[in-house]
Amino acid sequence: MKNISIAIDGPAGAGKSTISRAVAERLEFVYIDTGAMYRAVGLAALNNGFDTKCAEQIVPMLDTTEVDIRHEESGQRVFLNGEDVTGKIRTPEVSVAASDVSAIPQVRVKLVELQRALAASRSVVMDGRDIGTYVLPNAEIKIFLTASPEERARRRFEELVQKGVKTDLESVRQDMDYRDKNDSSREFAPLRPAEDSVTFDTTGNTQEQSIDCIYDFIIKKIQGR
Ligand code: DC
Repeated sequence: MKNISIAIDGPAGAGKSTISRAVAERLEFVYIDTGAMYRAVGLAALNNGFDTKCAEQIVPMLDTTEVDIRHEESGQRVFLNGEDVTGKIRTPEVSVAASDVSAIPQVRVKLVELQRALAASRSVVMDGRDIGTYVLPNAEIKIFLTASPEERARRRFEELVQKGVKTDLESVRQDMDYRDKNDSSREFAPLRPAEDSVTFDTTGNTQEQSIDCIYDFIIKKIQGR
């Protein structure tokens, strides 16, 4: 069977990673979380003490920044210059740094190359901000996931609390508003629904409801091809 690419885009907290991971598992496709790659570059910038918005500092750093993705039993693992940073990239500071560095075109070009290579030889569910519009414009199925800002902030807050990160709902909401604006307003491959995508609003859904709904949609599309 021909490889199939499924693009899932949307803002932070819309449920992309949980839904994409679960749907990929059911379909026996590989799940690729592209946000983790931007987070690794954001972490590299913070480790160097750089201004994450400053292209003059970030671009030269890219020559010595190796981001690698490996798929293991436990899921996708992210490596920065050979170090497994899968856990380290999930802090609020790294979220903001990732959004900042992702607006620098050279960062995107480097990571998009890796993303396309990963999707070239297998069937994937890839989540991000520009997968349907830029990374995989020929993806067979394109989904744009969204939810109300209040619900997205609450979900992200609960996720961070579960991971033991000390934070409060208001700062999570502020970080999210900042990232939403940053990610949608950048010039190069901004966050927006692809013209041929289908939008799902997950507000008020349980995770299971959203997973079932997206999975059913995908299966119908694949079978109807
Ligand atoms: O999906 P996430 O929250 O882990 O992504 C972190 C940041 O990375 C997000 O705020 C914007 C950037 N990003 C991007 O610009 N393009 C992608 N395909 C994925 C993430």
